[in-house]
Amino acid sequence: MKVGVVGSGLVGATAAYALTLRGSCSDLVLVDKDEARAEAEAQDIAHAAPISHGTRVSSGGYAALPGCRVVVVAAGANQQPGESRLDLLEKNAAIFREVIPQVSQHAPDAVLLIATNPVDILTDLAGRLAPDQPVLGSGTVLDSARFRHLIAERAGVDATHVHGYVLGEHGDSEVLAWSTAAVAGLPVADFMRSRGREWTPGVQGEIDIGTRDAAAAIIGGKRATYYGIGAALARIAEAILDDRRAVLTVSAPTPEYGVSLSLPRIVGARGVEATLTPVLTPQEREGLEASAAVLRESGEKVLG
Ligand code: LAC
Repeated sequence: MKVGVVGSGLVGATAAYALTLRGSCSDLVLVDKDEARAEAEAQDIAHAAPISHGTRVSSGGYAALPGCRVVVVAAGANQQPGESRLDLLEKNAAIFREVIPQVSQHAPDAVLLIATNPVDILTDLAGRLAPDQPVLGSGTVLDSARFRHLIAERAGVDATHVHGYVLGEHGDSEVLAWSTAAVAGLPVADFMRSRGREWTPGVQGEIDIGTRDAAAAIIGGKRATYYGIGAALARIAEAILDDRRAVLTVSAPTPEYGVSLSLPRIVGARGVEATLTPVLTPQEREGLEASAAVLRESGEKVLG
């Protein structure tokens, strides 16, 4: 199967690298307005193919996109230190108005997987610019991974055996669904007690802050994040390519809230196959409503 990556900056190129190492697809094409950059990234990644799964990696213009099952859109500016994801909206919306029609014209049957921030509002915008094909965003798949990683560290358990969802905006108003977080099927607090691990409101608060502020901390140290989001994009693309029906907190239009945001969704060949309704505490539900309100208000600037 063929995957396109539009935007060969750090996030797009790392997603392409992750797809190559994981053997997610047979063909990868990188597209960027900076053709030399796209070609250089494609060549560099192609050198990993013989050592992994033999993926055919190339670069090209939009005309190289026909036949793609998935097109990852990572074109646009990323956060600078002190910037919020929402601060990127006007700049990246203008880029999307140029890029998405071109992608849709050349890959009308592809599922569009949006990575560019603010990803929730740009997922909505992409859906309007490409109304005849499935569109979803990486949403809080990365945040949920961060949440699970921090719980796993405290629990002393392999993070793949920790369950936890982050919901709502991929951003400052996101909601950590503590009430359904679990380690080996046990509620987090019960697991920690059973294992004699320290578990206090302070520890929980550290995980909360560590999840929300992860991107800012990394950007402060190396000016961008790309490994976590690259892996998240590869995971979501695989769920589509292989019709995995994986449950992932991707961003997609959610009529109940009038905006794209992240909820647990079944992801398969057609993108979002179904949206699940998580059981939340009243406080978590209020947080989700507030997050949706932030996105609706911010989105008005570009969605009208
Ligand atoms: C982050 C970027 C992808 O959270 O928004 O690292």
